Amino acid sequence: MDEMVVKANGAEIPAIGLGTWQLRGEEGAAAVKSALEAGYRHIDTAAMYGNEEAVGEGLRASGVARDEVFVTTKVWPEDLAPADLRRSAEASLKRLGLSQVDLLLIHWPNAAIPLAGTIRALCEAKRAGLSRHIGVANFTVRLLDEAVSLADEPIVANQCEYHPYLDQSLVRAECRKHGAAFVSYCPIGKAQVLSEPAIQAIAKAHRRTPAQIVLRWQVQQPGVVAIPKSGDPQRQRENFSVFDFGLTDEEMAAICGLARPGGRMVTPAWSPHWD
Ligand SMILES: NC(=O)c1ccc[n+]([C@@H]2O[C@H](COP(=O)([O-])OP(=O)(O)OC[C@H]3O[C@@H](n4cnc5c(N)ncnc54)[C@H](OP(=O)(O)O)[C@@H]3O)[C@@H](O)[C@H]2O)c1
Repeated sequence: MDEMVVKANGAEIPAIGLGTWQLRGEEGAAAVKSALEAGYRHIDTAAMYGNEEAVGEGLRASGVARDEVFVTTKVWPEDLAPADLRRSAEASLKRLGLSQVDLLLIHWPNAAIPLAGTIRALCEAKRAGLSRHIGVANFTVRLLDEAVSLADEPIVANQCEYHPYLDQSLVRAECRKHGAAFVSYCPIGKAQVLSEPAIQAIAKAHRRTPAQIVLRWQVQQPGVVAIPKSGDPQRQRENFSVFDFGLTDEEMAAICGLARPGGRMVTPAWSPHWD
């Protein structure tokens, strides 16, 4: 079951994690608990999601040992000055009720704050034990290169949007070059890709659901981790059950062939200049 974990610069990241954006309060805690009961061992949150307390509650309610779960949180781009980053990470730990997260990410780059100071603070947060590993999110090829050259601790992941409508081969290749995992957010394209005839046909051939086909396509690519969000226990189980079948090279290529200009779904005003 080697492919259930992606190894990246010393980190071992479970290849399917639970995305938790918009899962807050009791619903959030229940979603985290049911995912852990279904076998998930990776939970993705962020200071900005307003759900770190709920994630911590779900984790404790599940009864799964802390060291069995890979917990990621993120620092919002307004908090990337060194002292702010440290404060943000400490506040996240307090809300989560944890002494350490497994991965601390810069949520988005911020051109108004020098990257050198941010990366230094991120590395210091790791050395201070606030996080086992560090990484970035929404970093372009150029920004990832810059982050890696500034860092004196390994960058283990770049979390970016990725689904069949969006070609991310450049950023994926850059992650591989640096030994970092590529963590796919919106991995099922916010469910919008599931009605694609090509995906439906592959699903029928494998007697799987379209979501399972897309998630299988994600984790079958080297170094790729996917963090689908679902608040529904049945869909959580569905999304996790992608390690007992495989897609052919032709099927993989057919899904890659759905990429199109304008396929990006998340592009806020503060986005970097995408590759
Ligand atoms: N770093 C960043 O800047 C960034 C940006 C965006 C997202 N993220 C992370 O990535 C995670 C995932 O992204 P996302 O939530 O935007 O998109 P997504 O995971 O691609 O799609 C989630 C949507 O699909 C539905 N869904 C889930 N499983 C399904 C299934 N098997 N069949 C049909 N529908 C299904 C969900 O509804 P139900 O809940 O009702 O199942 C939800 O509406 C986020 O939760 C967050 O943790 C990070």
